[in-house]
Amino acid sequence: MEILQKAIKIAEKAGKLILKESQETIHISEKGTNDFVTNVDQASEELIIAEIHKHFPDHAILAEESASTLTDTDAEYIWIIDPIDGTLNFTHAIPYYSVSIAVLKIQSSKHSKNYDYLSGELIAGVVHAPALGETFYAAKGKGAYFNGQKIQVSKAKTLKKSITATGFPSTNKEMNLPYYSKMLEKTQGIRRFESAALDLCYIACGRLDIFWEFSLSPWDIAAGSLIVEEAGGSVSDTNGNMLDLFGKDILATNGKVHKATIASFKNL
Ligand code: IPD
Ligand code: CA
Ligand code: CA
Repeated sequence: MEILQKAIKIAEKAGKLILKESQETIHISEKGTNDFVTNVDQASEELIIAEIHKHFPDHAILAEESASTLTDTDAEYIWIIDPIDGTLNFTHAIPYYSVSIAVLKIQSSKHSKNYDYLSGELIAGVVHAPALGETFYAAKGKGAYFNGQKIQVSKAKTLKKSITATGFPSTNKEMNLPYYSKMLEKTQGIRRFESAALDLCYIACGRLDIFWEFSLSPWDIAAGSLIVEEAGGSVSDTNGNMLDLFGKDILATNGKVHKATIASFKNL
């Protein structure tokens, strides 16, 4: 698929730029409380947008650092971009961060400037972790891959045999604590890695069995959720309803423990 191949190339090109820039002084600014952006996030996003414009001039773009500038919703496709997912890790030289790029075929945009009216079908996704040398990708109906090898979710059938991950947003962190506490009690353990896009890929390749988080944005989860589904996993919101990319919360599992996880989350 041409779009996926291009998306992978673009993500890898952005990854090279990130690794090169990380050798220089990084300039960090705070967008909100504990919500950071660096000159490298911005440079990565500019590179990705320029590449998309070059190859697919008719496609629309929704990118984290310039999200408010999205206006073109007449396009057939929209690229959803997180130029660095895991910026906090990046600023501390922790290698767990990624570039996330997804392509959505638009079914309805209501011709609105307000991008949360968008709906459609994810057709391609890539999550590239440059400092780890790991690239995950999938095209709709074509399976999921990790560094060229086909991947599948884990075989764990019970919460007791599951290892999980979650994340805490920069504000309203407490909201996740009852869920954290419940999963601590019911599963083998919880990880907090700090890149939702990559956490989803860890579900896809079977390293993790369960991932959930609240207060996310479409660019955190678009690529990873397609990769999980293509690897045989399940993705929904934390109540078990169909995933809404703009709905903020997500639950992704290997599929076998999805129902049990939703049952544990009930009434929290
Ligand atoms: C963050 C990461 C993190 C999640 C945060 C996100 P950013 O994205 O995905 O894992 O817990 O809620 O905001 O800010 O590093 O792109
Ligand atoms: Ca992000
Ligand atoms: Ca980001």
